[in-house]
Amino acid sequence: MRHFLADDDLTPAEQAQVLALAAELKHAPYDAKPLAGPRTVAMIFDKQTLRTQSSFAAGIAELGGFPMLVDGSLAGIGVRESVHDVARVLGRQASMIVWRTYAQARLEEMAEHSGVPVVNALTDDFHPCQLLADLLTVQEHKQQLAGLTVAFVGDGACNMGNSWLLAGATAGMHVRISSPDGYAPAQEMVDRAAAIAATTGGSAALEADPVAAVTGADVVVTDTWISMGKEDEAAARAAVFAPYSLTTALFEHAKPDAIAMHCLPAYRGKEIDAEVLDGPQSVVWDEAENRRHAQKAILTFLMEEATS
Ligand code: CP
Repeated sequence: MRHFLADDDLTPAEQAQVLALAAELKHAPYDAKPLAGPRTVAMIFDKQTLRTQSSFAAGIAELGGFPMLVDGSLAGIGVRESVHDVARVLGRQASMIVWRTYAQARLEEMAEHSGVPVVNALTDDFHPCQLLADLLTVQEHKQQLAGLTVAFVGDGACNMGNSWLLAGATAGMHVRISSPDGYAPAQEMVDRAAAIAATTGGSAALEADPVAAVTGADVVVTDTWISMGKEDEAAARAAVFAPYSLTTALFEHAKPDAIAMHCLPAYRGKEIDAEVLDGPQSVVWDEAENRRHAQKAILTFLMEEATS
């Protein structure tokens, strides 16, 4: 049974295949109905969401399926009953499970016991559906992925930093992560990305100086400094991350035709200037739309794998 729990669950060839399918589905959104029946896809959210819930619901409906929303706070997974038991129950109701939760281990346990494909809709460690959407967006704007340089500035130890390392390396990109001391991705994650990059022609590197990281980049990415669950650290983080804000001045070090990315929600004047987020080189609204097309593609891929 194939799942999509982390970005490197797809090989480079499979990632390219899923991105090509996403582009096809974007072009003709109502033609493909692999979830006709309708097949039910359970969507569970233990954390806040706008983009992920709406794009999965719309995408599943467009594929001919039924998006079954399971409120994580009502289900109480791991509290009211074990992940293992929930997996066995939902696997009897749904053809696939999409879950936004905290620890990656919870998602892995769901995948082990559900008997149906499980998709990571964000954990503390990874946000792989966002990265499929982001890579689709880069491909649309730059007509390539391999060989491009992407600089991620901000909290590199968060799910988006990890996912850019793995997904970017899988796509053959040169990934630079620039974070303050103590907020870099784990060395294990950098090594994991570097091992992939060695097979794709990409690279994975840490660069503490944000100006050095952004200089010459084709793509500049940031994310909120306060990931879900870190709200208590907001004041301390604002001070530590200030030099890593994606300001107009920092963005000017990238290539003249660089694009600016942010998975949203964004906090203007904190991790990104309004002039960058709302400026002509920002592609953030394309990223948000592309969640739907990219997720339709991974659901289609997993359904085909499960039924072949
Ligand atoms: N980017 C993203 O995952 O958005 P939501 O948290 O609103 O789902």
